[in-house]
Amino acid sequence: MGASLMSTMAIRGATEKPGSTKKSSFGKTPDGETVDLYTLTNKSGAEAAITTYGGSVVSLKVPDRDGKLGDVVLGFDSVDGYVNNSSYIGALIGRYGNRIGHAEFKLDGKTYTLAKNNGENTLHGGTKGFNKAVWAAKEIPGKDGQALELTYLSKDGEEGFPGNLQVRVIYTLTDTNALRIEYFATTDKDTVVNLTNHSYFNLAGPGSGDILGHIVMINADKLTPVDSGLIPTGELRDVAGTPFDFRKPTEIGARINSDDEQIKLGGGYDHNFVLNRKAGDPISLAARVREPKTGRVLEVWTTEPGVQFYTGNFLDGSLHGKDGVSYTKRSAFCLETQHFPDSPNKPKFPSTELKPGERYHTTTIYKFSVEK
Ligand code: GLA
Repeated sequence: MGASLMSTMAIRGATEKPGSTKKSSFGKTPDGETVDLYTLTNKSGAEAAITTYGGSVVSLKVPDRDGKLGDVVLGFDSVDGYVNNSSYIGALIGRYGNRIGHAEFKLDGKTYTLAKNNGENTLHGGTKGFNKAVWAAKEIPGKDGQALELTYLSKDGEEGFPGNLQVRVIYTLTDTNALRIEYFATTDKDTVVNLTNHSYFNLAGPGSGDILGHIVMINADKLTPVDSGLIPTGELRDVAGTPFDFRKPTEIGARINSDDEQIKLGGGYDHNFVLNRKAGDPISLAARVREPKTGRVLEVWTTEPGVQFYTGNFLDGSLHGKDGVSYTKRSAFCLETQHFPDSPNKPKFPSTELKPGERYHTTTIYKFSVEK
Protein backbone atom coordinates (compact mmCIF):
# COMPACT_ATOMS: atom_id res chain seq x y z
CA MET A 1 0.00 0.00 0.00
CA GLY A 2 1.34 3.48 -0.90
CA ALA A 3 2.50 5.74 1.89
CA SER A 4 0.03 8.48 1.01
CA LEU A 5 -2.93 6.09 1.13
CA MET A 6 -1.67 4.77 4.48
CA SER A 7 -1.53 8.25 5.94
CA THR A 8 -4.96 9.17 4.55
CA MET A 9 -6.32 6.06 6.23
CA ALA A 10 -4.49 6.80 9.45
CA ILE A 11 -6.10 10.22 9.83
CA ARG A 12 -9.65 9.11 9.07
CA GLY A 13 -11.73 10.37 11.96
CA ALA A 14 -9.17 12.96 13.07
CA THR A 15 -10.57 16.36 13.99
CA GLU A 16 -7.46 18.54 14.36
CA LYS A 17 -4.46 19.44 12.23
CA PRO A 18 -1.73 16.75 12.33
CA GLY A 19 1.33 17.78 14.37
CA SER A 20 -0.47 20.45 16.40
CA THR A 21 -1.79 21.18 19.88
CA LYS A 22 -5.00 23.09 20.47
CA LYS A 23 -6.11 24.71 23.71
CA SER A 24 -9.82 25.16 24.44
CA SER A 25 -12.06 25.88 27.39
CA PHE A 26 -13.32 22.90 29.42
CA GLY A 27 -15.52 24.85 31.85
CA LYS A 28 -15.09 26.00 35.43
CA THR A 29 -14.79 24.23 38.78
CA PRO A 30 -17.53 24.83 41.40
CA ASP A 31 -15.07 27.38 42.92
CA GLY A 32 -14.98 29.29 39.64
CA GLU A 33 -11.50 28.18 38.59
CA THR A 34 -10.96 28.05 34.84
CA VAL A 35 -10.21 24.62 33.41
CA ASP A 36 -8.68 24.00 29.97
CA LEU A 37 -8.53 21.14 27.52
CA TYR A 38 -5.42 20.53 25.40
CA THR A 39 -5.85 18.42 22.29
CA LEU A 40 -2.56 16.96 21.07
CA THR A 41 -2.62 15.64 17.49
CA ASN A 42 0.43 13.76 16.23
CA LYS A 43 1.76 13.67 12.68
CA SER A 44 -0.22 10.55 11.80
CA GLY A 45 -3.46 12.04 13.15
CA ALA A 46 -3.80 10.20 16.46
CA GLU A 47 -5.14 12.43 19.21
CA ALA A 48 -4.88 12.77 23.00
CA ALA A 49 -7.04 15.26 24.89
CA ILE A 50 -5.89 16.23 28.37
CA THR A 51 -7.60 18.54 30.85
CA THR A 52 -5.91 20.63 33.50
CA TYR A 53 -8.49 19.29 36.00
CA GLY A 54 -6.66 16.40 37.64
CA GLY A 55 -4.31 16.33 34.64
CA SER A 56 -6.82 13.83 33.30
CA VAL A 57 -6.67 12.07 29.94
CA VAL A 58 -10.11 12.81 28.47
CA SER A 59 -9.82 10.96 25.18
CA LEU A 60 -7.24 9.02 23.25
CA LYS A 61 -7.94 8.29 19.59
CA VAL A 62 -5.81 5.69 17.87
CA PRO A 63 -6.27 3.67 14.66
CA ASP A 64 -7.79 0.20 14.44
CA ARG A 65 -6.56 -2.38 11.93
CA ASP A 66 -8.40 -0.57 9.10
CA GLY A 67 -6.79 2.75 10.01
CA LYS A 68 -9.99 4.10 11.52
CA LEU A 69 -9.43 6.30 14.58
CA GLY A 70 -11.41 5.47 17.69
CA ASP A 71 -11.38 6.54 21.31
CA VAL A 72 -9.94 3.92 23.66
CA VAL A 73 -10.39 5.54 27.10
CA LEU A 74 -13.31 6.41 29.34
CA GLY A 75 -13.79 10.12 30.08
CA PHE A 76 -16.24 13.00 30.43
CA ASP A 77 -17.39 15.80 28.12
CA SER A 78 -16.74 18.66 30.54
CA VAL A 79 -15.22 19.54 33.88
CA ASP A 80 -18.45 18.67 35.76
CA GLY A 81 -17.95 15.00 34.96
CA TYR A 82 -14.46 15.14 36.49
CA VAL A 83 -15.64 16.98 39.62
CA ASN A 84 -18.05 14.04 40.22
CA ASN A 85 -15.55 11.43 39.05
CA SER A 86 -15.58 9.03 42.00
CA SER A 87 -13.71 6.39 39.99
CA TYR A 88 -10.60 8.49 39.22
CA ILE A 89 -11.24 8.04 35.50
CA GLY A 90 -8.23 9.23 33.46
CA ALA A 91 -6.73 11.25 36.33
CA LEU A 92 -3.22 11.80 37.64
CA ILE A 93 -2.98 10.20 41.07
CA GLY A 94 -0.96 11.47 44.04
CA ARG A 95 0.62 11.86 46.41
CA TYR A 96 0.23 8.19 46.89
CA GLY A 97 -1.30 5.93 44.23
CA ASN A 98 -3.46 3.13 45.67
CA ARG A 99 -3.86 2.39 49.38
CA ILE A 100 -2.08 3.20 52.61
CA GLY A 101 -3.29 0.88 55.39
CA HIS A 102 -5.10 2.37 58.41
CA ALA A 103 -4.57 5.81 56.87
CA GLU A 104 -1.23 6.33 58.55
CA PHE A 105 2.47 5.71 58.17
CA LYS A 106 5.68 6.36 60.09
CA LEU A 107 8.60 8.26 58.66
CA ASP A 108 11.76 9.23 60.59
CA GLY A 109 10.01 8.05 63.78
CA LYS A 110 7.01 10.33 63.33
CA THR A 111 3.46 9.09 62.63
CA TYR A 112 1.56 10.85 59.86
CA THR A 113 -2.23 10.59 59.87
CA LEU A 114 -4.12 10.72 56.58
CA ALA A 115 -7.79 10.84 55.56
CA LYS A 116 -9.75 7.56 55.68
CA ASN A 117 -11.46 7.77 52.31
CA ASN A 118 -11.69 4.02 51.65
CA GLY A 119 -12.96 2.17 54.71
CA GLU A 120 -10.15 2.34 57.27
CA ASN A 121 -7.60 3.18 54.59
CA THR A 122 -6.38 6.03 52.40
CA LEU A 123 -6.92 5.61 48.67
CA HIS A 124 -5.22 7.58 45.86
CA GLY A 125 -3.91 10.44 48.00
CA GLY A 126 -6.92 11.08 50.23
CA THR A 127 -10.04 13.21 50.09
CA LYS A 128 -8.62 15.78 47.68
CA GLY A 129 -5.88 14.02 45.80
CA PHE A 130 -4.02 15.32 42.74
CA ASN A 131 -6.99 14.13 40.66
CA LYS A 132 -9.02 17.06 42.08
CA ALA A 133 -6.34 19.73 41.59
CA VAL A 134 -6.27 22.19 38.71
CA TRP A 135 -2.79 21.85 37.22
CA ALA A 136 -0.85 24.64 35.47
CA ALA A 137 -0.25 23.67 31.83
CA LYS A 138 2.30 24.67 29.22
CA GLU A 139 2.86 23.39 25.69
CA ILE A 140 6.50 22.43 25.37
CA PRO A 141 8.54 21.30 22.36
CA GLY A 142 8.46 17.50 22.08
CA LYS A 143 11.41 15.70 20.49
CA ASP A 144 9.24 12.97 19.00
CA GLY A 145 5.67 14.32 19.13
CA GLN A 146 3.34 16.81 20.83
CA ALA A 147 4.14 17.51 24.47
CA LEU A 148 2.29 19.12 27.37
CA GLU A 149 3.82 19.96 30.74
CA LEU A 150 1.64 20.05 33.84
CA THR A 151 2.81 21.33 37.22
CA TYR A 152 1.32 21.33 40.69
CA LEU A 153 2.63 22.34 44.11
CA SER A 154 1.29 20.09 46.84
CA LYS A 155 1.79 22.09 50.03
CA ASP A 156 3.42 20.79 53.19
CA GLY A 157 0.71 18.98 55.17
CA GLU A 158 -1.72 18.63 52.25
CA GLU A 159 -3.90 15.58 52.97
CA GLY A 160 -1.54 14.87 55.89
CA PHE A 161 1.64 14.32 53.84
CA PRO A 162 4.86 16.09 54.89
CA GLY A 163 6.88 18.47 52.69
CA ASN A 164 6.15 20.92 49.91
CA LEU A 165 6.12 18.62 46.91
CA GLN A 166 6.74 20.25 43.53
CA VAL A 167 5.31 17.92 40.89
CA ARG A 168 5.79 18.02 37.13
CA VAL A 169 4.22 15.65 34.62
CA ILE A 170 5.00 15.64 30.91
CA TYR A 171 2.55 13.99 28.56
CA THR A 172 3.89 13.34 25.04
CA LEU A 173 1.79 11.91 22.24
CA THR A 174 4.53 10.57 20.01
CA ASP A 175 4.33 10.39 16.24
CA THR A 176 4.41 6.59 16.54
CA ASN A 177 1.13 6.53 18.55
CA ALA A 178 2.46 6.23 22.07
CA LEU A 179 1.34 8.26 25.06
CA ARG A 180 4.43 8.77 27.22
CA ILE A 181 3.98 10.05 30.77
CA GLU A 182 7.01 11.31 32.69
CA TYR A 183 6.61 12.14 36.36
CA PHE A 184 9.03 14.37 38.31
CA ALA A 185 8.94 15.57 41.92
CA THR A 186 11.11 17.26 44.51
CA THR A 187 10.46 17.91 48.20
CA ASP A 188 11.74 20.13 51.01
CA LYS A 189 11.09 17.53 53.78
CA ASP A 190 11.34 13.75 53.86
CA THR A 191 8.11 12.37 52.40
CA VAL A 192 6.59 9.48 50.42
CA VAL A 193 5.53 9.67 46.75
CA ASN A 194 3.85 7.25 44.36
CA LEU A 195 2.45 8.85 41.21
CA THR A 196 0.42 7.22 38.48
CA ASN A 197 -2.30 7.77 35.91
CA HIS A 198 -5.71 6.14 36.27
CA SER A 199 -6.84 5.78 32.64
CA TYR A 200 -9.53 3.19 31.97
CA PHE A 201 -9.06 1.47 28.62
CA ASN A 202 -11.46 -0.31 26.33
CA LEU A 203 -9.63 -0.95 23.06
CA ALA A 204 -12.92 -1.53 21.23
CA GLY A 205 -14.14 1.86 22.47
CA PRO A 206 -16.15 3.03 25.48
CA GLY A 207 -19.72 1.83 25.12
CA SER A 208 -18.75 -1.31 23.21
CA GLY A 209 -19.54 -3.64 26.11
CA ASP A 210 -17.30 -5.34 28.66
CA ILE A 211 -13.56 -5.95 28.35
CA LEU A 212 -13.68 -9.68 29.15
CA GLY A 213 -12.66 -10.64 25.59
CA HIS A 214 -9.47 -8.54 25.65
CA ILE A 215 -6.37 -10.74 25.69
CA VAL A 216 -3.82 -9.76 28.32
CA MET A 217 -0.19 -10.58 29.00
CA ILE A 218 1.34 -9.29 32.25
CA ASN A 219 5.09 -9.67 32.62
CA ALA A 220 5.06 -10.73 36.28
CA ASP A 221 5.95 -13.93 38.12
CA LYS A 222 4.50 -12.63 41.39
CA LEU A 223 1.69 -10.53 42.83
CA THR A 224 1.17 -8.85 46.19
CA PRO A 225 -1.87 -10.64 47.69
CA VAL A 226 -4.26 -8.48 49.72
CA ASP A 227 -6.52 -8.66 52.79
CA SER A 228 -10.23 -7.82 52.81
CA GLY A 229 -9.44 -4.06 52.77
CA LEU A 230 -7.29 -4.61 49.65
CA ILE A 231 -4.11 -3.88 51.63
CA PRO A 232 -1.14 -6.08 50.70
CA THR A 233 -0.33 -8.71 53.30
CA GLY A 234 3.39 -8.20 52.62
CA GLU A 235 3.80 -11.54 50.85
CA LEU A 236 5.09 -11.78 47.28
CA ARG A 237 3.16 -14.75 45.89
CA ASP A 238 3.89 -16.79 42.75
CA VAL A 239 1.25 -16.38 40.05
CA ALA A 240 1.92 -19.93 38.80
CA GLY A 241 -1.19 -22.10 39.02
CA THR A 242 -3.47 -19.13 39.89
CA PRO A 243 -5.86 -16.92 37.87
CA PHE A 244 -3.12 -14.27 38.14
CA ASP A 245 -0.81 -16.07 35.75
CA PHE A 246 -0.93 -13.82 32.66
CA ARG A 247 2.57 -14.70 31.51
CA LYS A 248 0.93 -16.35 28.51
CA PRO A 249 -1.67 -14.10 26.82
CA THR A 250 -5.09 -14.97 28.30
CA GLU A 251 -8.60 -13.53 27.98
CA ILE A 252 -9.48 -11.29 30.91
CA GLY A 253 -12.76 -13.17 31.33
CA ALA A 254 -11.27 -16.66 31.37
CA ARG A 255 -10.77 -16.84 35.16
CA ILE A 256 -12.30 -13.59 36.48
CA ASN A 257 -15.18 -15.36 38.24
CA SER A 258 -13.15 -18.22 39.64
CA ASP A 259 -13.28 -19.41 43.25
CA ASP A 260 -9.81 -18.11 44.01
CA GLU A 261 -9.66 -16.29 47.36
CA GLN A 262 -7.78 -13.28 45.89
CA ILE A 263 -10.21 -12.95 42.98
CA LYS A 264 -13.07 -12.91 45.48
CA LEU A 265 -11.41 -10.26 47.65
CA GLY A 266 -10.88 -8.03 44.61
CA GLY A 267 -14.31 -8.69 43.10
CA GLY A 268 -12.26 -9.60 40.01
CA TYR A 269 -8.77 -8.31 39.29
CA ASP A 270 -7.69 -5.42 41.51
CA HIS A 271 -4.14 -6.40 42.35
CA ASN A 272 -0.57 -5.20 42.17
CA PHE A 273 1.72 -7.36 40.03
CA VAL A 274 5.45 -7.46 40.76
CA LEU A 275 7.00 -6.78 37.38
CA ASN A 276 9.84 -8.87 36.00
CA ARG A 277 12.73 -6.55 35.28
CA LYS A 278 16.01 -7.28 33.52
CA ALA A 279 18.89 -5.75 35.45
CA GLY A 280 20.20 -2.77 33.53
CA ASP A 281 17.10 -2.24 31.39
CA PRO A 282 16.04 1.38 31.82
CA ILE A 283 12.41 0.60 30.99
CA SER A 284 10.58 -2.74 30.74
CA LEU A 285 7.49 -4.20 29.18
CA ALA A 286 4.84 -4.50 31.91
CA ALA A 287 1.82 -5.67 29.93
CA ARG A 288 0.43 -6.23 26.46
CA VAL A 289 -3.29 -6.18 25.66
CA ARG A 290 -4.92 -7.19 22.38
CA GLU A 291 -8.51 -6.62 21.32
CA PRO A 292 -9.45 -9.20 18.64
CA LYS A 293 -12.34 -7.35 16.92
CA THR A 294 -10.49 -4.09 16.21
CA GLY A 295 -6.97 -5.51 16.14
CA ARG A 296 -5.83 -2.75 18.52
CA VAL A 297 -2.85 -3.57 20.73
CA LEU A 298 -1.69 -1.71 23.83
CA GLU A 299 1.73 -2.24 25.33
CA VAL A 300 2.59 -0.71 28.69
CA TRP A 301 6.26 0.04 29.36
CA THR A 302 7.46 1.41 32.67
CA THR A 303 10.37 2.16 34.96
CA GLU A 304 8.14 1.30 37.95
CA PRO A 305 8.36 -1.99 39.91
CA GLY A 306 4.61 -2.73 39.88
CA VAL A 307 1.35 -2.42 38.00
CA GLN A 308 -2.19 -2.45 39.38
CA PHE A 309 -4.39 -4.49 37.07
CA TYR A 310 -7.94 -3.35 37.82
CA THR A 311 -10.92 -4.61 35.82
CA GLY A 312 -13.44 -1.88 36.64
CA ASN A 313 -15.19 -4.03 39.24
CA PHE A 314 -16.54 -0.97 41.08
CA LEU A 315 -18.02 0.66 37.98
CA ASP A 316 -21.77 0.29 38.41
CA GLY A 317 -23.34 2.27 35.58
CA SER A 318 -23.93 5.38 37.69
CA LEU A 319 -21.26 7.47 35.95
CA HIS A 320 -22.17 8.72 32.48
CA GLY A 321 -19.28 9.67 30.27
CA LYS A 322 -18.69 11.10 26.82
CA ASP A 323 -21.74 10.84 24.56
CA GLY A 324 -23.86 9.75 27.54
CA VAL A 325 -22.33 6.29 27.69
CA SER A 326 -22.92 4.69 31.09
CA TYR A 327 -19.86 3.12 32.63
CA THR A 328 -20.93 -0.34 33.69
CA LYS A 329 -19.08 -3.02 35.63
CA ARG A 330 -15.99 -4.30 33.80
CA SER A 331 -16.53 -2.03 30.79
CA ALA A 332 -12.87 -0.98 31.01
CA PHE A 333 -9.58 -2.01 32.58
CA CYS A 334 -6.70 -0.08 34.17
CA LEU A 335 -2.99 -0.76 34.18
CA GLU A 336 -1.74 1.67 36.81
CA THR A 337 2.05 1.59 36.95
CA GLN A 338 3.25 2.19 40.49
CA HIS A 339 5.25 1.28 43.56
CA PHE A 340 3.43 -1.34 45.59
CA PRO A 341 0.38 -0.32 47.64
CA ASP A 342 1.05 0.40 51.34
CA SER A 343 4.84 0.53 50.81
CA PRO A 344 5.27 3.18 53.56
CA ASN A 345 4.15 0.47 56.03
CA LYS A 346 5.96 -2.42 54.34
CA PRO A 347 9.72 -2.04 54.90
CA LYS A 348 10.44 -5.01 52.61
CA PHE A 349 8.74 -3.41 49.59
CA PRO A 350 10.78 -1.06 47.35
CA SER A 351 10.91 2.31 49.11
CA THR A 352 8.66 5.25 48.17
CA GLU A 353 10.59 7.76 50.28
CA LEU A 354 11.79 10.99 48.76
CA LYS A 355 14.25 13.28 50.53
CA PRO A 356 15.24 16.91 49.94
CA GLY A 357 17.92 17.07 47.22
CA GLU A 358 16.64 13.90 45.52
CA ARG A 359 14.64 13.90 42.31
CA TYR A 360 11.69 11.56 41.77
CA HIS A 361 11.54 10.59 38.09
CA THR A 362 9.53 7.75 36.58
CA THR A 363 8.35 7.04 33.05
CA THR A 364 5.42 5.04 31.71
CA ILE A 365 4.60 4.59 28.02
CA TYR A 366 1.29 3.39 26.60
CA LYS A 367 2.18 2.22 23.08
CA PHE A 368 -0.57 1.56 20.54
CA SER A 369 -0.35 -0.57 17.42
CA VAL A 370 -2.50 -3.03 15.49
CA GLU A 371 -2.42 -6.69 14.69
CA LYS A 372 -3.94 -7.90 11.45
C1 GLA B 1 -7.69 1.36 42.03
C2 GLA B 1 -8.03 0.54 43.21
C3 GLA B 1 -9.41 0.03 43.10
C4 GLA B 1 -10.41 1.17 42.92
C5 GLA B 1 -9.98 2.03 41.76
C6 GLA B 1 -10.82 3.28 41.66
O1 GLA B 1 -7.52 0.62 40.93
O2 GLA B 1 -7.14 -0.51 43.44
O3 GLA B 1 -9.75 -0.73 44.22
O4 GLA B 1 -10.44 1.94 44.09
O5 GLA B 1 -8.65 2.41 41.87
O6 GLA B 1 -12.17 3.05 41.74
